[in-house]
Amino acid sequence: MTVVGSKIEKAQEDYVRIFDTTLRDGEQSPGATMNVEEKVAIARQLELLNVDVIEAGFAVSSEGDFEGVRRVAEAVTNPVVLSLARTHQLDIERALKAVEKASRPGIHIFIATSDIHLKYKLQMNREEVLAAVTRAVSFAKKHLDYIEFSCEDASRSDWNYLKTVCEEAIRCGAKVINIPDTTGHAVPDEYGRLFAFLRQNVAGADKVIWSAHCHNDLGLAVANSLAAVHNGARQVECTINGIGERAGNTSMEEVVMALKTRKDFFGIETRINTRQIYAASRLLSQVIGQPVPPNKPIVGDNAFAHEAGIHQDGVLKYKLTYEIMKPEDIGIPSNKLVLGKHSGRHAFVERLKQLGVDCSRLDINKVFAEFKALCDKKKVVYDDDLLALVTEDTRHLGERFVLGELEVSSSTKSTPQATVTLKVDNEERVASAQGDGMVDACYKAICKAAGVNVTLNRYSVKSITRGTDALGEVNCLVAQDGITVAGQGAHSDIVMASALAFVNALNRLELRKRALGQRPVGGP
Ligand code: KIV
Ligand code: ZN
Repeated sequence: MTVVGSKIEKAQEDYVRIFDTTLRDGEQSPGATMNVEEKVAIARQLELLNVDVIEAGFAVSSEGDFEGVRRVAEAVTNPVVLSLARTHQLDIERALKAVEKASRPGIHIFIATSDIHLKYKLQMNREEVLAAVTRAVSFAKKHLDYIEFSCEDASRSDWNYLKTVCEEAIRCGAKVINIPDTTGHAVPDEYGRLFAFLRQNVAGADKVIWSAHCHNDLGLAVANSLAAVHNGARQVECTINGIGERAGNTSMEEVVMALKTRKDFFGIETRINTRQIYAASRLLSQVIGQPVPPNKPIVGDNAFAHEAGIHQDGVLKYKLTYEIMKPEDIGIPSNKLVLGKHSGRHAFVERLKQLGVDCSRLDINKVFAEFKALCDKKKVVYDDDLLALVTEDTRHLGERFVLGELEVSSSTKSTPQATVTLKVDNEERVASAQGDGMVDACYKAICKAAGVNVTLNRYSVKSITRGTDALGEVNCLVAQDGITVAGQGAHSDIVMASALAFVNALNRLELRKRALGQRPVGGP
């Protein structure tokens, strides 16, 4: 591997870099596992957003992760693409190999620095950790210039020891020093002071970019990240929709819009193309099957909805009375009503492109036929309907289970009953079952036909468009052998949407288990 020239001029420019870790820390959120194609689709959207760095995975952790990093590295041009690595040589070698084809490759090395992690997790003393930092960063530096170094659990580490570790990482060649609040324990004033202390006291502090990485356990991830920026951090690590381990990571859209909206206070911004934020949020939500909560700042359905009469009156008279941001700056379509049954294929494809959909990945003839069928059922078709159709289509890659016919019956006098036709490895199977309700009967029938035994951990349904003929969206979490995946389905019939979501989850489970070398989801 060649040593890539450092972008010193760029590093000196004063703006806040956005390091997106949706594909690594975000993917650690329960049920948010993505396959390689999905990771590439998200990475392309991150490039449209103009993020500075994409952390594409943890290459050494599995073949699937390695492949994800490798494919993302090939798919994007402008952002730095990184893989995470512990200080072990094997981790670093795998990470270097995975980012080899990136136009701007990087590596992110980490080791814990808090006494509690040293004693109970690493079982190493401070000197041993310091020696591991020297070895790892020096080794990586021989192959690659762009090295980020993270002190895991930095916010609970002894500040003087932290200073020593940061100095050593800088001395060995790290370009970016990350100070994670791994457990979401910090509060803004304290986290901000930690950055001020390190920037003032670490030898070489002015040669590197200081980075904030926060978890949201106390709901303070965005506030902590902003406090770090206020005290000199020039990179924020975050995820789309704030997904991540436990309560999540710093939400990209919140931090970006806070810096943009309050530039008067922070005096600094990011380079994010904020008009791509909404498309990114919707894409991720569709891919991982996790709906965005309606009250989520910036991207939730209610983020710009004014309900109180007094607010509506004010907004109608002058928008800025109650709106501090413009929905169009986030890329929220001002007119969600789009196409109808008379719309042509060209208009349909154009609209998909406007919504940030990568049409080259789609079977356009098939999706267009589905769109026409939907137009026959619904009078008006909204952007969300289109996104739902398209996401359905992207899921047809490598499916083992395909839903055919579904028949359900229920009345106040009889037990709900469902009969499904399911293709399993191209063999058509039919099964019937009774249940507590139509959805329960339907799920039991699908399990019978597929020959699977899984646990349904979560089920939710919501209307994603308007009217009684609206598309219903079902999200579920399905688990087997300790692996949990999300499934999603959308249809104007709720039971059908439920069946699609369940079958989608079974297919994802199958892919995930195959990637991990585990037994198939269902018997033959
Ligand atoms: O939260 C954390 O400490 C991390 C590191 C690996 C950077 O995710
Ligand atoms: Zn983290």
